[in-house]
Amino acid sequence: MSLLRLGVLVSGRGSNLQAIIDAGKKGEIPAEVVVVISDQPDAFALERARANNIPAIYIGFQDFSNKEKYEEKVAAVLKQYMVEIVCLAGYMRVLGVNMLEAFPNRIMNIHPALLPAFPGLHAQARAWEHGVRFSGCTVHFVDEEVDTGPIILQAVVPVLAEDTAETLAARILEQEHKIYPAAIRLFAQNRLRIQGRKVYIKN
Ligand code: GRF
Repeated sequence: MSLLRLGVLVSGRGSNLQAIIDAGKKGEIPAEVVVVISDQPDAFALERARANNIPAIYIGFQDFSNKEKYEEKVAAVLKQYMVEIVCLAGYMRVLGVNMLEAFPNRIMNIHPALLPAFPGLHAQARAWEHGVRFSGCTVHFVDEEVDTGPIILQAVVPVLAEDTAETLAARILEQEHKIYPAAIRLFAQNRLRIQGRKVYIKN
C-alpha cells in the first residue's frame, strides 16, 4: 500500500511533528511526512525536519502583500510536494479560504484541551485556572473558525491536586503525541467519514 503524503505546518518546537515522523518511520502509520513548512524562520520544528531528511521550508508571512497571497504560496508548495493531507502542529495562524479550498476536509489540527472547552491560546493554563477536574486534547478537522471543526479523536487527562499549569500541559502533550498519529492512521486507512459536525469512524 502506498504511503499517505503528509504536509505539516508548524511555528515552534515541533514535538507533535516529531511524534508523527517517528510513527511513520516505525511503520505505525501508513503515512510519511514529505514537507514541513514554517511561518517562523527559527522554529525548532524545521531542524527536526532537516534532521530527518524532510524538506523544511520557511515561508514568511511578511513577504506577501496579504493573507490570500501568503496562503496561495503555502498551498502551492504543498501541492508541489503532492501532499494529500495537511497537519497543523503548533501552527500559529488561522487558516483562510485559500488553504481550506485547496485541501477540503483534508486539514487536521491538534488542540491541547477538550474542545469545545478552551479553544484558542493558552488552553492548558486556562483549563487549570478554571479548576476543571479533567482536561485533555483534541484532534479535529479544520474549518474557517478557530478550533471549531469536526472532532476526530480526544484523550482525557485528569487534573491532579498537585498539578501546575506546566505539569498538566506536559501530561496533555504526552497524549497529543499518541492521538495525532492515531487520527492520521484512521485517515490513511480511509476510515473517517464526516457528516455535518460529526466524524464517524468505520470499523
Ligand atoms: C501543542 O500543545 C498543540 O496542541 C498546540 O500547539 C502545541 C504545539 O507543540 N496546537 P509542538 O510544537 O508540537 O511541540
